[in-house]
Amino acid sequence: MCGIIGIIGKDDVAERLVEGLRRLEYRGYDSAGVATIHDGAIERRRAEGKLANLVKELDRDPLPGTTGIAHTRWATHGAPTTNNAHPHATKEVALVHNGIIENFKALREELTARGRVFDSETDTEVVAHLVSELVEQGISPKDAVAQVLPRLHGAFALAILFRSSPDMLIGARLGSPLVVGYGDGETYLGSDALALAPLTQRIAYLEEGDWVIVTAGGAEIFDRDNNPVERPITISGVTGELISKGNHRHYMLKEIYEQPVVVAQTLRSYLRRMEDQVSLPVPDFDLGAIRRVTIVACGTSYYAGMVAKYWFEQFARVPVDIDVASEFRYRAPVMEDGGLMIVISQSGETADTLAALRHARSEGQKIAAVVNVPTSTMAREADLLLPTHAGPEIGVASTKAFTCQLAVLAAFAANLARAKGRLDGKAEKELVRHLAEAPAALNAALAYDESIEAMAHLVAGARDVLYLGRGPDYPLALEGALKLKEISYIHAEGYAAGEMKHGPIALIDDKVPVIVLAPSGPLFEKTVSNMQEVQARGGKVVLISDYDGVQAAGEGCIATITMPKVHPLIAPMVYAVPVQLLAYHVAVAKGTDVDQPRNLAKSVTVE
Ligand code: G6P
Repeated sequence: MCGIIGIIGKDDVAERLVEGLRRLEYRGYDSAGVATIHDGAIERRRAEGKLANLVKELDRDPLPGTTGIAHTRWATHGAPTTNNAHPHATKEVALVHNGIIENFKALREELTARGRVFDSETDTEVVAHLVSELVEQGISPKDAVAQVLPRLHGAFALAILFRSSPDMLIGARLGSPLVVGYGDGETYLGSDALALAPLTQRIAYLEEGDWVIVTAGGAEIFDRDNNPVERPITISGVTGELISKGNHRHYMLKEIYEQPVVVAQTLRSYLRRMEDQVSLPVPDFDLGAIRRVTIVACGTSYYAGMVAKYWFEQFARVPVDIDVASEFRYRAPVMEDGGLMIVISQSGETADTLAALRHARSEGQKIAAVVNVPTSTMAREADLLLPTHAGPEIGVASTKAFTCQLAVLAAFAANLARAKGRLDGKAEKELVRHLAEAPAALNAALAYDESIEAMAHLVAGARDVLYLGRGPDYPLALEGALKLKEISYIHAEGYAAGEMKHGPIALIDDKVPVIVLAPSGPLFEKTVSNMQEVQARGGKVVLISDYDGVQAAGEGCIATITMPKVHPLIAPMVYAVPVQLLAYHVAVAKGTDVDQPRNLAKSVTVE
């Protein structure tokens, strides 16, 4: 979603601002812009579409100036046009904004009635006018911002530039993250530490309601009541190196290939291999008191939660509710004492998931957060932080974060089972051994990359694709369909294999490929029966199973993908690999933008 960068520099900043935007591209955007102060005036360049268009604008008409702000916009209010692109500006003020100003209509009417003229259809522009009209009355930038912030409802991260104070930026956050970067005689604002990585590693994370005055010498931070506050400077550890594509053609492929290593890295924090025990990074959390679990997440993270529901119920015998985060609050969920909410989020910033977390907290629930960004808002607001160690995920379609989430959730379910007296030493030892086999099994699954690439054309020409699975492979079917939709733009649906005859079977003909996920195990026979129902109606099946499964049921399929034979516990992790690779190769065959698919954002910070 939208990205922000601001620099108070020693030299001209436009080029470095664009470099920062480049590092934010992965979040998904559809226009971009830059503003600086030069010769006592605010100047901007903006362009719709990809950053290359903005770069062309800047080449044609360079933008000098040592203080500047820049933005990648993912359209919410108003189409992704140049006019709606940020920065929004008046003669006095330019600003960039992430989030949504929910009361913008009322504010816009009020401003219009006072004679202010708007250039765009965005919610953001009201903020520029509100601040500007105070500054025009001679009020200082600091006081103007302090007066305007309480008037804004919704979510925002802001970076504001003032014509009258060329050596200063003001930033503010509520709901959307914003960080301050400390350099050598330079200071920065960014929507995440990644954007600032080439500039500095020294980062302070603003808290909810904070706002900040940034100068070349440092930053003065205030809380929502305008009291000066200190926020610790941490070393982000994010380097430019980490987000190169390496030898891979796309970030997504690189991230698929990283899975054996990052899952191993993640499991290391949750398994004590020497003792054959599971463990948690926060050992003193009282798991025994948990009587009910509520899982809330969005997108791919939600499907990881669906798999985990099986584990929590099977191992710990604790009842589990699961909701997509955007629905959770609106069904008046009943939350009782002893309830634990688990939020699952790669970014730790997804607005709906964060809102669900806060709602659950207000209802007295304990909160556990499975997040990939340990400095994220969810990580900071949780009682129990369960990090995944996937490293930065750049491809919009989530891959390595998913398998790492599964690793953490399996280990967490085992911890809960032990705390509930449902896992004896022998069973725990076995479980640890199976989990520890996951990295090698993921590696073995990756060995089928070429054969998956070779059969991708069977799917690339389709208009509709069905994915079927049972038990924990049902969420995998949903995830497979989501991956394909996201990056290849082919309509795909995941279905519980047994439910198919209650509807989707009507879609079956020889033009609809049906991908069946059926590892050997207790549900294999039943899944194969459902697959045969498809074949009996002329459906074209791609079977993903292990060697035994393919031997038993592969006949009559248009293709088979053979996975290593693994324990059912780790099958969802391993079977994630072929569904990711299939979506990837189909997208490449179709020539779509794999890493930044149209209309999608990496971190969805609006509800
Ligand atoms: C967006 C991304 C998905 C992701 C979902 C949830 O839609 O494009 O890849 O699964 O958000 O994001 P989160 O950061 O909360 O896991």
